[in-house]
Amino acid sequence: MATPRKPSATARTYDVVLYGASGFVGRQTVAYFAKLGYTLKPDGTPLRWALAGRSADKLEAVKKACGPGAQDAGVVVADAHDVPALEALASQAQVVLSTAGPFALYGSELVAACVKHGTHYVDITGETPWVRDLIARHHKAAAAQGTRIIPFCGFDSVPSDLGSWLVATTMQAQHGQACERIKASFSMLGGVNGGTLASALNFMGGEQRSLLDDPFLLNPPGSKTPPAADHADVKLPVYDSDFKAWLGPFVMAPINTRVVRRSAALLTPSRGRPTHVTSKLYGKDFSYQEYMRFGGGAIAGAAATAFSAGMFSSQLAMKLSAVRKVAEKLMPGPGTGPSEWAMNNGSFRCELVGTSAQGHVVKARLADKGDPGNRATTKMVCESALCLALQLDELPGGRSYGGLLTPASGLGQVLVDRLRAAGMKIEVD
Ligand SMILES: NC(=O)c1ccc[n+]([C@@H]2O[C@H](COP(=O)([O-])OP(=O)(O)OC[C@H]3O[C@@H](n4cnc5c(N)ncnc54)[C@H](OP(=O)(O)O)[C@@H]3O)[C@@H](O)[C@H]2O)c1
Repeated sequence: MATPRKPSATARTYDVVLYGASGFVGRQTVAYFAKLGYTLKPDGTPLRWALAGRSADKLEAVKKACGPGAQDAGVVVADAHDVPALEALASQAQVVLSTAGPFALYGSELVAACVKHGTHYVDITGETPWVRDLIARHHKAAAAQGTRIIPFCGFDSVPSDLGSWLVATTMQAQHGQACERIKASFSMLGGVNGGTLASALNFMGGEQRSLLDDPFLLNPPGSKTPPAADHADVKLPVYDSDFKAWLGPFVMAPINTRVVRRSAALLTPSRGRPTHVTSKLYGKDFSYQEYMRFGGGAIAGAAATAFSAGMFSSQLAMKLSAVRKVAEKLMPGPGTGPSEWAMNNGSFRCELVGTSAQGHVVKARLADKGDPGNRATTKMVCESALCLALQLDELPGGRSYGGLLTPASGLGQVLVDRLRAAGMKIEVD
């Protein structure tokens, strides 16, 4: 199949199109853009953006609710399965930011349209089997034409992926060595969206469920570091002397660990991978694990044990279709989420410890206020889109680099700087 030529950037009507703008997170992305104020691009012209989704009435209502900051925004109507409408949308946009999920249900035709029209793309999916399919279908074409398709730009998996990359780049800068091992611990306070539960139920019930256990699901061919058992997901509680805390399994680790491993592979110089990476950031036998953090005392140990047992049994139960059917009835539906109060009072903290083969240690921390699945996710994905819309020439690999990328490999330091400027605490020792 011939690789499509990328249409000229100046021909696009919008710099960023927010797809899924009527959804629970989508509405927050519109509010985020409405608050940006008058933003100039490097060429001195103002940033132009639009809301998009399947219902013109809903989009107009969201636009109105977001006040004067949204009054100049465009509105683009395209159902997730209407290919001509999606192609028209992609051809008008420099960058598409999608929050329309479950992505396995509403995302595939949109990504195909973006690749066809050379439109950069970011989203907030955590659906690893779906992304594996995207890699198989589009990585080559997107890489050949310099189009960046970057899933996982929300709470899964920006803190894990950018945090690990920061630890690895600091290890190389300070000690001239690659990281052999990185571990991360998470503490968080937040609610759950109906859309997130719908996505989880969709992939737990799908044919690809068994793929979730593959620790290298997203790795390019030839980049696995066996034995796989060393990379298996954490199931049991453990006391960790680096974190000085009891740790247990983290619910998002089966997503985040796959993303970090893909970054390590994409950022390791080798045949067929980018030439812009000159030093070795991740070691030959690189391993990454992440955990939920409990406190340091005996009660924390008991909590970690109880949590691990609860998570194991709920994951087993969700494999049963009868349990999923009951859950579907009881859980909040799509379009719903935590209250404003809960979203404003949530928080997250991610701590990382990296070690080189020679025993050097680098530590990093990322933290922010606000519900991680909503406030932090909105900030992360909007700033990711703005990296592509406003700072394309500064991104890793320059203008011609593309493919099915990760936040670290596709956005790197530019995203770190933008998130810091947007109030996220990002510190490296
Ligand atoms: N990475 C993270 O940390 C994170 C955090 C939160 C959410 N998420 C993920 O983000 C996704 C959205 O979450 P949410 O809570 O915002 O869900 P939501 O409120 O249910 O929103 C879903 C969006 O999809 C749109 N949609 C549904 N069917 C469509 C179709 N046929 N054509 C076009 N658009 C369609 C909906 O449009 P209508 O309004 O017209 O129905 C709505 O805009 C989920 O997959 C969730 O798992 C990730």
